[in-house]
Amino acid sequence: MKRIAVFASGSGSNAENIYHYFKNHKDVSVEFILTNKYDAFVIERAKKLDIPIIIISNRAFKNGDFLLNVLSQYPIDLIVLAGFLQLIPSYLLERFPNKIINIHPALLPAYGGKGMYGKHVHKAVKENKEERSGITIHYVNEHYDEGEIIMQESCSLSQYDSVEDIAKKVGELEYTYYPKAIEEVLGA
Ligand code: GAR
Repeated sequence: MKRIAVFASGSGSNAENIYHYFKNHKDVSVEFILTNKYDAFVIERAKKLDIPIIIISNRAFKNGDFLLNVLSQYPIDLIVLAGFLQLIPSYLLERFPNKIINIHPALLPAYGGKGMYGKHVHKAVKENKEERSGITIHYVNEHYDEGEIIMQESCSLSQYDSVEDIAKKVGELEYTYYPKAIEEVLGA
């Protein structure tokens, strides 16, 4: 069995989707969800799904002692970032070399970097009248949105699409492809 942990800072719709996808999977299990936001909606989702939720302050996350202790109790094969907005500290990158992946709601390297997350990305895509957007799933390194790309999927946009329409189209790609990318990375 391969074990994953999902890190999320916001609504957690991807975390929930990943949870459902792997719920009865023979080779992969979601061990816990971690969030760095005390009021993130992902906490409600985790409680409803009855999956362990770890809430950690940004300070403790940067420091590492608490999380490394938690991780020593859960043998995790892959950390999956799903709307997790903290930069990953070097202690975690060293502990999980090439075993932390992220999803970004645009076609990197376009619309990436600090401050480019969630709706901000779709707003910028709309302002630039892009004809396509999509998702990028990539390994995580010490910079925002810069690690090696695992998979990209795109969708076409129309000039009539609102920011919410773009978010919906991109969201559908995320829900379809992120679980599959996780399987692929784990060889499951
Ligand atoms: C997702 O669209 C994800 O791609 C994005 O945050 C959203 C989280 O939604 N991540 C980034 O922008 C990372 N730079 P969710 O909490 O409903 O899964």
